[in-house]
Amino acid sequence: MSLANKYVIITGATSGIGKEAAMALARENAHIVLPVRNLEKGEKVKKEIGQHYGNPFIYIMECDLASFDSIRSFAREYKNRFGKLNILINNAGIWETQRKETKDGIEKNFGVNHLAPFLLTNLLLDELKAVDFARIINISSEAHRHSKFDFDDPEGKKKFSSFKSYGQSKLANILFTRYLSNLVRDDGITVNCLHPGVVATNLFDKMNPFLKSVFSFFMVSPRKGAETTIYLATSPEIKGQTGEYFVKRKIKRPSSAALDDEAAKKLWEISCDYTGL
Ligand SMILES: NC(=O)c1ccc[n+]([C@@H]2O[C@H](COP(=O)([O-])OP(=O)(O)OC[C@H]3O[C@@H](n4cnc5c(N)ncnc54)[C@H](OP(=O)(O)O)[C@@H]3O)[C@@H](O)[C@H]2O)c1
Repeated sequence: MSLANKYVIITGATSGIGKEAAMALARENAHIVLPVRNLEKGEKVKKEIGQHYGNPFIYIMECDLASFDSIRSFAREYKNRFGKLNILINNAGIWETQRKETKDGIEKNFGVNHLAPFLLTNLLLDELKAVDFARIINISSEAHRHSKFDFDDPEGKKKFSSFKSYGQSKLANILFTRYLSNLVRDDGITVNCLHPGVVATNLFDKMNPFLKSVFSFFMVSPRKGAETTIYLATSPEIKGQTGEYFVKRKIKRPSSAALDDEAAKKLWEISCDYTGL
């Protein structure tokens, strides 16, 4: 599918799955905006993509997803420069194994993996509504299956566990996807999420080397890991599908905690409080 004259934002495209997705969408001639926290790294990726596909419409813009101020100023600048958005891919993610905090003092897995895409997406809804058919794609994970959302301690202040914290942030991606899909159903916007597979990327860099080596038996390449993202961004079949969780390009039932509508509503409300929306 040609994406000529379509505007795409992909977060986390300086490496791994996001970079491969950006490459594939550049080949379809999309205008691609890459929000990055490290401009130098971003410019290198832009050059690489340009060399491969000769697409002159790659834009690097500063955005640190660990800072609400930075997300807000990125969204403001995007609105002024481009005014419309066809595809938003919330791909960036981290797996912090120690409890760390964002610039706003929020536990980092929760802040970067859930609150950042929550805020960014909400700030860009008018631009998504400004086109005929828009898509939002959130990158979740099968790791969501190990947790229920802990509303008593969402930031692991009482007790921090790396697996619980990461898994809960990926559960939040699905709850957010499902809740938002209902809100924007009549605006011509689909919202879906996915698990990319276990992919050989920098995500596991902070993990204990033994566990990393166990995971590495199952790992696929970033190119393979980007396939479902590219499918959701380009396939005409997606037009009528929204609020779904995809694995290997197919709809899959997520955990029952991810299908809990009460939890989705509660998460939406606390996310509004956290981000000041
Ligand atoms: N790899 C897997 O097996 C796997 C499995 C399931 C789900 N996922 C999900 O897939 C997504 C992509 O991850 P990946 O595996 O491709 O990992 P990755 O190679 O580590 O890429 C993560 C990307 O996120 C960016 N990022 C991190 N913190 C940021 C911040 N504060 N502000 C802006 N950008 C930030 C990184 O930028 P820098 O270059 O500046 O660090 C990088 O571009 C994540 O949501 C992850 O949870 C991955």
